[in-house]
Order: sequence, then C-alpha cells, then structure tokens
Amino acid sequence: MSFQCAPPPLSRARRNITLFGATKLIVRSPREYRIPKGVNRRLTIALSIAVFCTISATQSPGGDERGAGITEDVTTLSLGGRLYDNHWNVVGRRPPDSRQPEFPKDVRTYNEKTWRCVACHGYDYLGRDGHLGTLSRSGKFTSMASAKGRDPAKLMDFLATGMHQKLTSMLSSDQLKALSLFVSQGQHSIAQLADESGVARGFSDRGKTTYVHSCVGCHQTDGKAVIYGEEGDVASLGWIARNRPPQALHKIRNGVPKADMLALRFMPLDQLSDLLAYLQQLDPKAR
Ligand code: HEC
Ligand code: HEC
Repeated sequence: MSFQCAPPPLSRARRNITLFGATKLIVRSPREYRIPKGVNRRLTIALSIAVFCTISATQSPGGDERGAGITEDVTTLSLGGRLYDNHWNVVGRRPPDSRQPEFPKDVRTYNEKTWRCVACHGYDYLGRDGHLGTLSRSGKFTSMASAKGRDPAKLMDFLATGMHQKLTSMLSSDQLKALSLFVSQGQHSIAQLADESGVARGFSDRGKTTYVHSCVGCHQTDGKAVIYGEEGDVASLGWIARNRPPQALHKIRNGVPKADMLALRFMPLDQLSDLLAYLQQLDPKAR
C-alpha cells in the first residue's frame, strides 16, 4: 500500500474547475505560461495600486492626470522616461568609453554618464535652470521644458539628427517614438509636487499607505535596502527623497532601467507628492 505524506496534487478535474475558460490555459500547461516571478509581483503590485488610485483619484483634489487608468500611453510614456534616464541600459548596450564631446568640460563625472539625456537636461528637465545649475552654468545644460507639447514627430526628427544623433542612433524607431512622446507629454513640473527647496507639498500620512502596501517588500520599512542608484547616492530612500527629489520622482513615475522597479505613472501627481512627503521622513539621520 502506498503512503503519501504530502497532500496529493489537485486532480486534473479539480484544477479544471476554474472561473473563466482562460484559466484553463494556465492549468493545462503551467510551465509554458508561467509569468516570471519578478514580473508577476510587479504586475500584481502595479495593478493593485492602479485600482487604489482610480478609486481615490475621484475623491482627491488637484493633479494633472486625475483618474488616469493604465493605458498604452502610460506604458509608452514610462518607457520613454526610462530611455531618457538611461537608454543604454534599456537597449542593453554600453556607451562609448570616451567622454561625450558636447558635455560641459567643467563637470567631473564618469565618461559613460555623459551619454545620457538626463546628464545634460536633468531629472527636473530644466537643465541649468534646475538642479544641474549647481554643477555648471554651461549652455549645454539646456532646459527641455519648452519642448513640452511639441509635435512628437518633429521631436523624433530633431533627436535623430544634429548633435543628438550620436546619442540616439542605436534606438529603434519605436524607442525613439517613446522617447519623443515622453519629451512632449511626459514631463511633469517638479513645482507641482514640491516647493522651491524640494520639500514635498503632499501629506506624508497619506503617502505612508502607498509605501507600506507597495514599496516595503523591496525597499524595507526604513527604505534602506541596497540601492546602487546614481553617483553620490546614499543607499537610503529617505536621503534620496530629501536630497534628490527630482531623481526620486522621475524614477518612481517611470521605473528604473534594467531594475525590477515599479513605474507609478498612472498615479495622480498629488498622490505622488504624498508619497514623496512620506519618503522624505524616512531614515532622518542619513546625511
Ligand atoms: C551633452 C549634453 C546633451 C545630451 C546628453 C542631450 N542633450 Fe538634448 N540638448 C542639448 C543642447 C545643448 C540642446 C540645445 C541645442 C540644440 O538644440 O541642439 C539640446 C536640446 C534638446 C531639446 C530641445 C529643447 C528645446 O526646447 O528646443 C530636446 C527635446 C532634447 N535636447 C532632448 C534630449 C534627449 C531626449 C536626449 C537623450 C537622447 C538629449 N537631449 C541628450 C544637450 C544635450
Ligand atoms: C519589485 C521591487 C521594488 C518595488 C516593489 C519598489 N521598488 Fe523602488 N527600486 C527597486 C529597484 C531594484 C531599484 C533600483 C535600485 C538600484 O539603483 O540599484 C529601485 C529604485 C528606486 C528608487 C531610485 C533610487 C535612486 O537611487 O535613484 C526610488 C526613489 C524608489 N525605488 C522608490 C520606490 C517606491 C516609492 C516604491 C513604492 C511605490 C518602490 N520603489 C517599489 C525595486 C523596487
């Protein structure tokens, strides 16, 4: 007589009693259709936040994207945002070893960084009129804010020619389109979320709900899980949110190239400001 110590696997008949026919697909051949663990987790988290946002957006004031759901545009715009941040990582190629010749001579940094959009235009998109102004007053650090609303097709032409050509030549036309859409429609104004010194205008107690439900799993309660981030970053979300709020916001809205990180672009700006306010209170001792 055989003896089973583990509960027997569900019989095929049991497993086929599924809610919708579609689930059968998964039941029949679990190996083929299984979503990789990370993607699954991100998807679940993103979807639950989307539902949470759509419900609460109807009650909360302000925000330029009130009630925005998950649409293809949101996905394209966040892809564009990641390309803007580090298109080399998105595409999976290394930038040239040399320094980008147009990059301001007076700024000391790694050569590879000089080939990224964000290095000249900034996480606030304002070039030297924003946070990059403390690094250099060079005209190469141009604000991109005036390109908001410009025809994406014209932006594609602009980015594929002239001095930007050597930066964008490895992008597919879909990627270039996503980048151009981001420039035209994806830039937020940091002034909508934070005051001039970068302090979030939102309410941290409301932001805490989002943090506890969606971020703790990866970043820990204190926000001090290991982060490589950018040159000079301290591995602490609290430090980053206080010292580099435009960087935190850009990455929270668009995700992080090549990393298993959420993109909360579907979340209204006022709720992102609440989240930023909460992050700014984390790990207060990090300097
Ligand atoms: C080395 C610095 C540098 C890098 C890197 C860089 N740009 Fe630029 N960008 C400039 C300068 C300088 C100008 C203004 C001169 C010009 O129009 O060519 C400009 C202009 C622009 C404009 C037009 C702004 C306006 O209002 O007319 C857009 C849009 C833009 N860049 C987007 C990008 C994107 C997207 C990337 C990444 C693929 C990128 N830039 C990378 C320096 C840079
Ligand atoms: C699935 C895991 C995961 C979840 C969930 C997640 N993150 Fe991340 N996050 C990452 C990873 C991975 C990185 C990239 C870390 C690195 O640069 O090494 C990152 C990076 C970041 C950064 C950029 C840090 C920097 O140095 O620029 C911020 C800010 C951030 N996350 C905030 C959040 C917030 C807020 C939430 C919740 C809404 C969240 N993350 C949820 C995995 C996650």
